[in-house]
Amino acid sequence: MAKSKANNTLSITDNRTGKQYDLPIENDTIKAMDLRQIKVKKDDFGMMSYDPAYSNTASCTSRVTFIDGDKGELMYRGYPIDVLAKKSNFLEVSYLLLNGKLPNKKEFNTFEGNIMNHTMIHENIKKFIDGFRYDAHPMGMLMSTVAALSTFYPESKDIFDEETRKIQIHRLIAKMPTLAAFAYRHSMGMPYAYPDNDLSYAGNFLNMLYKMTELKYKPDPIMEKAIDVLLILHADHEQNCSASAMRNVGSSHPDPYSATAASIAALYGPLHGGANEGVLQMLAEIGHKDNIPKAIKAAKNGEFRLMGFGHRVYKSYDPRATIIKDIAHDVFQVTGKNPYLDIALELERIALEDEYFVKRKLYPNVDFYSGLIYQSMGIPTEMFTVLFAIGRTPGWLAQWKELLLDPERRIARPRQVYLGDKNLKYVPMSKRK
Ligand code: SDX
Repeated sequence: MAKSKANNTLSITDNRTGKQYDLPIENDTIKAMDLRQIKVKKDDFGMMSYDPAYSNTASCTSRVTFIDGDKGELMYRGYPIDVLAKKSNFLEVSYLLLNGKLPNKKEFNTFEGNIMNHTMIHENIKKFIDGFRYDAHPMGMLMSTVAALSTFYPESKDIFDEETRKIQIHRLIAKMPTLAAFAYRHSMGMPYAYPDNDLSYAGNFLNMLYKMTELKYKPDPIMEKAIDVLLILHADHEQNCSASAMRNVGSSHPDPYSATAASIAALYGPLHGGANEGVLQMLAEIGHKDNIPKAIKAAKNGEFRLMGFGHRVYKSYDPRATIIKDIAHDVFQVTGKNPYLDIALELERIALEDEYFVKRKLYPNVDFYSGLIYQSMGIPTEMFTVLFAIGRTPGWLAQWKELLLDPERRIARPRQVYLGDKNLKYVPMSKRK
C-alpha cells in the first residue's frame, strides 16, 4: 500500500518550546531550509544544520555517478566501473558522462573527431610555459595555463548557449593532455612534441610526452591501453572535493576554463588528487619492507597519513584500486616490476590486518597503486596528479553542465555559526597596550 503523505515526514519536537514540526522527506533527505521554521523567539533567524565538511549534506541532485561506499560500487551513468574499464575507452566514457548515454558509431566518431581536432594550443601559451622555472610543479603550470585559456576564448563566457558550451568542453578535454605534456617537456628541458591526431587520445598523450627524433611516434599498445583505462578510472567520482569546487565556482557563472582551474587547484591537495604523488614519496621514505611496522606505528600515532589509504565514502575496498592492481601486472610485464610494489603489497597486507585500520575502515583507494604504474612508465612523480586531472576533466565538465541545467541552481552561499565578538569599541592606536 502506498505510504500516506503523513508517513513521509520527519517529526521534530523542539524541547526548548515543546513545539512539534513535521518536515517532508524526499529521497531520504529533508530540506535544510525546512529547519528555518524552528525558532524559540518569533524574530529568531531559525534553525540551520551544521556540517563543516558537508559529510552528511547533499549539495545537489545528480544522475552522473553513483557510489555505494559500503559495497564498494561505482557506476558512471548506471554502468559499473569494471565493465567500462574492460569494454569501453576513455573518449566513449567521456561522451557517456557528458550526454548520459553511450554513443552510437556516428556519435562516437563525431565526438572523437571534435576532441582530436582541438588538441593544439595557441602558440602564445608556450610563452607562459617557457616562463616557469625548470622545477615548477606541473600542477601549478596546468592550473595556470587552463585559466589562461579563458583569455583566448572570451566567447566561452556565454555558458548558457549550448553550442558554445559544447565547443569549450571539447577544447578542455582535448587540450588537457597537450598542456600536461608541454609542462613535462618544459621541466625536462626538451622541445615540445606537437599532437599527432592520427593516434588515439592516450596514444597521442604518450606521443607528446616521449616523442624524440623519430618522424612518427609509435605508442606501446600495452602502455596506451593502461593509460586509457587509468583515465577511465579517474573520470568522475560524484561530489568529491574538486567536483564540488567545480560546482561551487561554476554557480557564479564564470567561463568553464576558470571553473576548471579551480577544480585543478582542489585536486592538487595531498588529501585529494595529490595523494598519488604522496604514495610514492611515502614508499620511498619507507624504503624497505622491514621498515613497514615502524611506518604503520607512526600512522597509528597520527604522526603521518598513510597516503593512498582511506576514503570519505568508501568504507570498503575502492573498486578502482582493484582494477588498477590488475593493470599494474600488465604494465610490469613490459616495464619490469616496480621495486616499490612489494612494499606497497606488504603495507596493504599489514594494514588490512591491523585493528586501527580495520576499525576505521581504511582501505587502499584509487591513489595507492596508480603511481606505481605511472612511475614504471617513466612518468615523474610530480606528473601523477596531472594525469588524474586529465582523467577527471570530463567528470568535472559533466557535473558543471548538470549544474547549469539544474532548475534548482543558485549561487552557492553557505551560512555560518558566528561565534565571534560584536559591536566592540574602537581603541585608537595610541591607547592600545
Ligand atoms: C581521492 O572524495 C573522493 O571521491 C576523492 C577521490 C576521487 O576520485 O575524487 O576518491 C580521490 O582523493 C582519494 C583519497 C586520496 N587521499 C589520500 O589517500 C590521503 C590519505 N587519506 C586521508 O587523508 C583520508 O582518508 C581522506 C582524506 C581520504 C578521508 O578523510 P576523512 O573522511 O575526513 O577521514 P578522517 O580524516 O576523518 O579520518 C577518520 C579517521 C581519523 O582517525 P581518528 O581521528 O578517528 O582517530 O581515520 C584516520 C584519521 O586519523 N585516517 C587515517 C588515514 N585516513 C584516515 N589514518 C592513517 N592514514 C590514513 N590515510
